[in-house]
Amino acid sequence: MDFNGVRMAVYKVKDILKDEAVGLEVTLRGWVYRHRIVGKKAFIVLRDSTNVVQCVIDGAFLPNAYSLAEKLGLEASIEVRGRVKKEPRAPTGYEIEVVELRISGASSDFPIKGGEGIDYLLDNRHLWLRSRHLTEVMKIKSTVLKAAREWLTNNGWWETTPPILTASACEGGATLFEVKYFDKKAYLSQSAQLYLEALIYSLEKVWSLTPSFRAELSRTRRHLTEYWHLELEAAWYTMDDMMEVSEELVSYIVKRVLEENTDQLQLLRRDTGILENSTKTPYPRIRYDEAIEMLQRKGFQIKWGDDFGADEERVLTEYFDKPFFITHFPKKVKSFYMKLDEENPEIALGFDLLAPEGYGEIIGGSQREDDYQKLLNRIIEEGYSVNEYKWYLDLRKYGSVPHSGFGLGIERLVMWIAGLEHIRDAIPFPRMLGRIYP
Ligand code: 4AD
Ligand code: MG
Repeated sequence: MDFNGVRMAVYKVKDILKDEAVGLEVTLRGWVYRHRIVGKKAFIVLRDSTNVVQCVIDGAFLPNAYSLAEKLGLEASIEVRGRVKKEPRAPTGYEIEVVELRISGASSDFPIKGGEGIDYLLDNRHLWLRSRHLTEVMKIKSTVLKAAREWLTNNGWWETTPPILTASACEGGATLFEVKYFDKKAYLSQSAQLYLEALIYSLEKVWSLTPSFRAELSRTRRHLTEYWHLELEAAWYTMDDMMEVSEELVSYIVKRVLEENTDQLQLLRRDTGILENSTKTPYPRIRYDEAIEMLQRKGFQIKWGDDFGADEERVLTEYFDKPFFITHFPKKVKSFYMKLDEENPEIALGFDLLAPEGYGEIIGGSQREDDYQKLLNRIIEEGYSVNEYKWYLDLRKYGSVPHSGFGLGIERLVMWIAGLEHIRDAIPFPRMLGRIYP
């Protein structure tokens, strides 16, 4: 940038918060995070994407900059030039003795002042995104996505791009969003799974990251109506093979976040003990039957055949100090495409991976039914249209293979890793029951 004709490198805040930077004259760009006038001095805490630093303007020496600073509002964008000083009393231990201040974009009466309620903050999400809390979470999410991609690339999985507009349901009609598609009906995808299944016949090990949509009719702290879905599917893989893949993937992601996001986890006051523990595999495995017994022992009125809700899952997580699997569910609580146990066809070869500390399900997966006739029977039994699934049935007609896959909810994973109270903070613009924020 150009300051009085002198070209200067623009620094990032994190790069000057160190002793080696003391005495350097630097230029910074950012936003006014905090702002106060004491005596004839203006104290501006400047925020950029990396951190915050206090900048001081002494009115006795810089009357023009001082009068500019007096007029500054919260969240105005500014450029400052000044010298780096060590200052233990400043919020991040250093400060800038400003020699020049420029306002790029003024800001007056920023609508978020602190202490507002959640509805107000959600209405002002476009501005609330600047908050420290959401910034740290978004950085963790970026690492989660990067780490997932790293692991998949390093382990021979092909990235693919399935559609979002679909003609049939994957996870049942109850949570389908219908859209008008010219003169026909279509749906927003709940899962890429059925399409990924078609892709394994050429690529064998595939994955995709897409938005998935669920018309969830209850407002909970772990349901979004639009979320990011990471899905894997592989030819020749059994349920056990796929569970190994999922624990390797999740433990790798946790390890990478612990390596790269120490600052973020600390700012979020995340206790990292269980995260450290979760970098170690294998994860414990229990069967649905055992889970039922464990719940009954804790006083739950639950019987074989019932599905688990958030309450049941939360109590089950109390038994573990890392993610754990529940397997072999009754077929009636799972989807039509799951392969059934040869010995007991009432049981589906499905698995869920639950995050500890009360978080619950982050992954749902299964071995898929690969027999044409059995799959056809399941489709009829569920009352679905055979015609709609003709293409999916075809996959079992021409060179069928045993295969398995799973879906991981990215915001569910981020919510657990970051230790969030509510899933809405794991996504910049949350879509939840009945309301679309900016
Ligand atoms: O368990 P689900 O419904 O499984 C499937 O969709 C499979 N077809 C996936 C597959 O095998 N390819 O969803 C998978 C995961 C859940 O474990 C959860 O993490 C997440 O998607 N998820 C949601 N996340 C946020 N909000 C919602 N409403 C979610 N519904 C599911
Ligand atoms: Mg599920």
